[in-house]
Amino acid sequence: MKIVTSIEELRDQLSGQLRTAFVPTMGNLHEGHLSLMRLARKHGDPVVASIFVNRLQFGPNEDFDKYPRTFQADVEKLEKEGVYVLFAPTEKDLYPEPQEFRVRPPDDLGNTLEGEFRPGFFTGVTTVVLKLFSCVQPRVAVFGKKDYQQLMIVRNMSRQFALPTEIIAAETYRADDGLALSSRNMYLSPAERAEAPALYQSLNSVAAEVRAGHLDVFQLEHKAMDDLAQRGWQPDYISIRRRIDLQPPSAGDLAQGTPLVVLAAAKLGSTRLIDNLEI
Ligand code: PAF
Repeated sequence: MKIVTSIEELRDQLSGQLRTAFVPTMGNLHEGHLSLMRLARKHGDPVVASIFVNRLQFGPNEDFDKYPRTFQADVEKLEKEGVYVLFAPTEKDLYPEPQEFRVRPPDDLGNTLEGEFRPGFFTGVTTVVLKLFSCVQPRVAVFGKKDYQQLMIVRNMSRQFALPTEIIAAETYRADDGLALSSRNMYLSPAERAEAPALYQSLNSVAAEVRAGHLDVFQLEHKAMDDLAQRGWQPDYISIRRRIDLQPPSAGDLAQGTPLVVLAAAKLGSTRLIDNLEI
């Protein structure tokens, strides 16, 4: 695997490649990320991964400084997956001058759910993703459904800017007890780790109620949040949305069986976890 840090070197390495499959990451790679690499391999060749902890998507009180950086271990994992190039720019490489041009997602998609609790987050994500796409020029790029709203925003961005990159969705990779793998799981204490699958269980309960015909969305969401709060969580939201645009479903949507997804974010101690489940 070739490790490159500058945009120039990256372009040299990839010149003439027309079927590149790209997986952007912030490092601290776990099985979830590796499953994205495997999916990428099915959709293109060569596979290119990036590791870049993107300051633009962290709020002033978020964990940019303490975000786990495990570069050597990440390199070993990517080598085993047959990744061809790892693009690991420094901040100076990717942002040699202040990144004043930004990509701002539309309010109805970017300011709801995660966007409501993490202002500016999606602008940071879309800005770096567009820049990484411009550097790598992939034919396909793989994003996990674990970050459902991110996936949808990146997919819409790619479509609206007519980017030549197809966005492929990868299923969420879960531990045996159901907890979605995430780099932030490592912040959990052993007791919190034991409690953490309750978030996924709560999504499953909501989904089961909807499937059984319980259509009072407001009541379901509030009960699920109350139940988590009783267990010691601080929920930001548990919200049932239309899959197509992440807007709340109308009575007509519910009656017609419009495809839905339930999304959640909640803090356990000081660790904020997110998860979702298609209904
Ligand atoms: O999902 C992530 O790890 C990040 O948001 C991404 C897509 C690599 C952009 O920094």
